Amino acid sequence: MKAVLLAGGTGSRLRPLTKLYNKHMLPVGDRPMIGHAIAKVKEAGIRDVVLVTGRESAGAFIAYLGSGREDGLSITYRIQEEAGGIAAALAQAESAVGPDDKLVVMLGDNLFEEPLQSHLEAFAAQPDGAMVLLKRVDDPRRYGVPVFGDGGRIERIEEKPARPASDFCVTGIYFYHADVFDVIRKLKPSRRGELEITDVNNVYAAAGKLAHRTLAGWWTDAGTFDSLHEAWSRMRRRRP
Ligand code: DAU
Repeated sequence: MKAVLLAGGTGSRLRPLTKLYNKHMLPVGDRPMIGHAIAKVKEAGIRDVVLVTGRESAGAFIAYLGSGREDGLSITYRIQEEAGGIAAALAQAESAVGPDDKLVVMLGDNLFEEPLQSHLEAFAAQPDGAMVLLKRVDDPRRYGVPVFGDGGRIERIEEKPARPASDFCVTGIYFYHADVFDVIRKLKPSRRGELEITDVNNVYAAAGKLAHRTLAGWWTDAGTFDSLHEAWSRMRRRRP
């Protein structure tokens, strides 16, 4: 199992904080935001990490994390030249992933409480397809929202729907086999010109191969001022 951490993008909802700093380098509690994703990977016992970020910020990530040795990790870096969407960022990891690797892909701005272990074990037993983690939220319109079909399976995911079909969101923690890169290659950019991770997941959903589990404990993304504030208050008392 490898972890792919996505830490590119423009952080536009956090301007002007992100004019100078990559969002994932902003402090949350006792460490930069990306440090919490690294802690989750360590806690889950994963050693191999691929970190994808933009070219302007790569130096800061390398200065902070280096080879990963201090954390007992092996970190490979990949550069996303333009902020072309989450799936475009994930595509950059392909050359660092083997054909039989399983991946947990984490958005670097997703912070959460529950250890990943039980979800990793569930996916390890899943022979093909993908898996997403869901969380009940107050305002699903901000997120990808699952539409459930017969038997409780995810029929499709709607990205930031005006009228959400459920009060669940798809968190930014995804599980794939290496065939995800073939799926991304066939994607077309969305109306906002990005390769969307929701479109990737919808390919699996249409094939009846998108499993889901629910994340326990608190979860937040830290992409807006309000959610960054929430992340701070959750993490403020944590120590290594
Ligand atoms: O947080 C969960 C949500 O994340 C999901 O519910 C949505 O379905 C999913 O699309 C995503 O929505 P956001 O609007 O929060 O995505 P955002 O553009 O803010 O990007 C989130 C992370 O993805 C960001 O922390 C870094 C990474 N990213 C994003 C883009 C656009 C990249 O690495 N490269 C990119 O080009």
